[in-house]
Formats: sequence, structure tokens, C-alpha cells
Amino acid sequence: MLQQALRVSGRSASPLIKWVEKWVESATSQKSGAPHQVKSLQEMPGPTVCSFAWDLFAKRGLSRLHELQLEGRKQYGPMWKASFGPILTVHVADPKLIEQVLRQEGQHPMRSDLCSWKDYRQLRGHGYGLLTSSEGEEWQTVRSLLAKNMLRPCAVEPYDGALNGVVADLLAKLRLRCRQSPHGLVTDVSREFYRFGLEGISSVLFESRIGCLDPQVPPETERFIQAINTMFVMTLLTMAMPGWLHRIFSKPWDTFCQCWDYMFQFAKGHIDQRLQEEAERLARGEEVEGRYLTYFLSQQGLPMKTVYSNVTELLLAGVDTISSTMSWSLYELSRHPVVQADLRDEVQGVLRGRKVPSAADVAQMPLMKAVVKEVLRLYPVIPANARVIADRDIQVGGYLIPKNTLITLCHYATSRDEKLFSNPDEFLPHRWLRRDQGHHPYASVPFGVGKRSCIGRRIAELELYLALAQILIQFEVRPDPDGAEVRPMTRTLLVPQTDINLQFIER
Ligand code: HEM
Repeated sequence: MLQQALRVSGRSASPLIKWVEKWVESATSQKSGAPHQVKSLQEMPGPTVCSFAWDLFAKRGLSRLHELQLEGRKQYGPMWKASFGPILTVHVADPKLIEQVLRQEGQHPMRSDLCSWKDYRQLRGHGYGLLTSSEGEEWQTVRSLLAKNMLRPCAVEPYDGALNGVVADLLAKLRLRCRQSPHGLVTDVSREFYRFGLEGISSVLFESRIGCLDPQVPPETERFIQAINTMFVMTLLTMAMPGWLHRIFSKPWDTFCQCWDYMFQFAKGHIDQRLQEEAERLARGEEVEGRYLTYFLSQQGLPMKTVYSNVTELLLAGVDTISSTMSWSLYELSRHPVVQADLRDEVQGVLRGRKVPSAADVAQMPLMKAVVKEVLRLYPVIPANARVIADRDIQVGGYLIPKNTLITLCHYATSRDEKLFSNPDEFLPHRWLRRDQGHHPYASVPFGVGKRSCIGRRIAELELYLALAQILIQFEVRPDPDGAEVRPMTRTLLVPQTDINLQFIER
């Protein structure tokens, strides 16, 4: 209790409170039987460099990194070390230990210092966006600016109109596709949801449409989506290869850079075009409302380099995350018709005959929120997050972790842990509605926790709720009668391994 109370006040904690908090934590860990002797990294279990490299490259481990979390925990316990290419990383797969890491992350948390995404930006002289920034002050400035407009639920409510416009186009596209197929079968639904994700985040960033859901998709949009996909595949490969290997096998690194080049070029083109339009309107003496994020960012006195990199990263962050969560949500709902019917009843009960929900409506849908939570527990888009504590050594689970060590937070393993969730591999959204089923607050944290958590969370949730609500009103969603089970795979993010095909039956 005391610890809880201290944590609540932790944000503005004085040094005295911080000292007491540390003292309470160490006293609790001693009481719970944790070892008094702090152990070193050398004593931490883990696979040898060779066996881990064998798993990664010979046993398709890069696409099974999420499964390696489960195997690692089974073999070595809640903490183990492994060398990912040239990088030594400590894996943490227990919510209490993840909490210990995150509570010591400091004022300006860093996700990873060794990321090839940063190397690319350095090479090309681009700025860093929120995803990649590790310079404390630089990150904090942009984070505080965007948080005001993105993190509070009331700040994102005004986007419901723009997002509903995108949902209307998605529904039209689904209707067209299901009418073209004999049994209403829409193959590879993720493909439509990629476009939906990109159009949705563009509507928020530019307050204009970029045609992703038009019958004829602009080729530059297709190329942007392809660039994101390839970049994610190459990310793991380039990180796993030591720098000298890049010079011998240059293809992965070159492809990776070409993808980013195109993504930056695409974002810059749209930003420049929108800002030019506003400048022309101002010159004509017209009023510019400019509630959209690009305009807001460009008015804050930030260097344009920072605006370009942040908008590029926000665009990127809004595509696969939405597509994957939408695909898995409908996949699971199609296989659980009773939950689907309950959810549809909930939506209809709130809408009372209206067809289009608002942000205020979806806020009153507890089952909707539980469904998305459960989907993200089973398929966390970011299956493993990371932290690097650069300013000091920390203690976690009785081990001393030297500063600058890469710490991998194994969220996939904790959210599929049977000790934390009963029937962990089953889709049971009602578990989130039962008051008696308390879960450790760090057992499933798909958006991260704390200062560095997902800044797009509120927009993502709004977009998902609005789209799912309208799809369920207009269609009954059934599994592909000939389809097999679809499993997840890691492609930096967790995505479906094979196409998800679904029947959309018009109501
Ligand atoms: C289902 C959807 C999404 C999920 C599950 C998700 C998850 C995450 C996670 C786990 C992180 C890392 C948090 C941490 O390090 O503690 C993150 C960071 C971030 N996300 Fe999301 N995300 C989603 C959608 C979005 C969207 C739509 C946007 C853009 C509007 C976005 C923008 C970002 C940005 C910019 C960061 C970096 C924040 C920072 O470092 O300050 N995300 N997201």
C-alpha cells in the first residue's frame, strides 16, 4: 500500500520520497525472499552466442522472436541474456521485473541506442522523430507539444469526424470487394487495413485525404506502404548484422536506406504541399483553422528538419499498428460469433438507431474496449519493447545491470503467461470486465507505460473503435470456410504470418 501511495506521487517526487521509495522496494524484495547478494551479468543464464545465432538464422528465429521469448523464459527463467548480433541484451519476462526496469528509467527514457534507424538518420543528416529520438531535451520538447494534442482523450475527440470519413470509405471498399466474390470472401484483409491505417493517420496529420481507399490507389501510396513493409523486414536483419558485415553483404542495408529515403520523401512532399496551401490561403486573406497536427507542429518554431522527421515517424507508426490490430480483431471476432453478437448489441444499444458513432459514443462501450485489449494481449503489435538506461547501473531481479545495457522487455511472453492469465492463448475479452480478475498492471502493456509510452494511443483506440463499430453494424463477419488457423510472426512488429481471409455478409 505504502509503495502504491508513493508511486502515485512518483512523478513529482522529491529526493526524500525517492529515497524512501527505494528503501521500501529493497525491504519488500528482501521480505519476498529475493537474494541479498547482487549478482553480475556474468552469472545470468542464457544461450551461448553460437546457439542463439543458430536459432536466429538457421531456425528462422528472426520471424519467431516472439516465440523465442516463451522458449527463453521456459529454459532460463524470468531473466536471461543473449547476444543479438553484435548487441548483448538482457531479456526480462516477468511483469514485476519489467516494472522494476521502467520505474528506474529516469527523466528521459531511451528505447534503444543501437538502432539502425538512427544510423540511417545520421548518414543522411535527417532529424530524429519521437520514435528514434534519444537526446533528452530534444525528445522532451516535441513530446510535450504533441502530448497536449494527442494524449488526452478530449484532445483527440475532434478527430472523429475526419476518421469517420475514412471509415465510410473503408466500408465502401469492403462492400465492393465482398460483392465481387461469390461468398462475400475478402482475401488478405490486412491489405485493406494498411490503406485504412495510412489514410486515417494522414487525415489526422494533414486534414486532407491521400486516396489510399480510392478504387485506383495512387502508385506513390502503394510504394510508401511497400517501403514500410520492407523497412520492417530489413530492420531486424540490419540490427542483427555487425557493421563490418554490412560492407560485405550490403544489400540489406542498401534496401533499408532506400525504403527510408522514400518514406521521408513521401512525407516531405505532403507536408510541403499542405503548408503551401495554407500560405496561399493566408495570402488571400482567408482564415486558416489548422487543427491538424502538421500545421500545429510547423507553428511551434521547431526546425523544419524536426517537423519532417516527426511527421514521417507518425505516418509510419499509424499504419502497421492499426492494420495488424484491425485484422486480428476481426479474425478473432469471426471465430467467436457470440462475442461478435454481444459487441454488436452493445454498439446498437449505444447508437439507438444512428449509423455513425462519435467519440463520445465509443467511450461508452466497455466490451469494445475489452475486445481491443484482449486482441492486443494476444497479439501485441510491439511484442518486445526495449530500454537503455544510460546514466547509471540499475538493479533488477537481484542482478546488477550496467548502464547502457540493452534491456528487452518481453511483453509477448508476459501476456501469454498462464500464471498471469487463465487460458492465455484463448480470446476471452470478458476477462477484462470482471472485477474479480485483477491482472498485474505490467502483465499486458501493449502501448507501453510512462513517459515514453505510445503517443498515438488515443488516436489509435478511437480509430479502431469507430471502424469496428461500423463494420459490425453493417456486416456479419465469418471465418474463411476453407481457412486454416493464422499464426503471428515477428517482422519487427507482430503481424499475421499468412493472409487473413474473412467472409463479410451484408446485414
Ligand atoms: C494499436 C496501435 C498501437 C500500438 C499497440 C502502439 C504501441 C506502441 C508502443 C508499445 C510504443 C513504445 C512505448 C514505450 O517505449 O514505452 C509506441 C510508441 C510510439 N507510438 Fe504507438 N502504437 C500504436 C499506434 C500508434 C499510432 C496510430 C501512432 C501515431 C499516431 C503511434 C505513434 C507512436 C509514437 C510517435 C511513439 C514513440 C513515443 C515516444 O517515444 O515518445 N502509435 N507505440
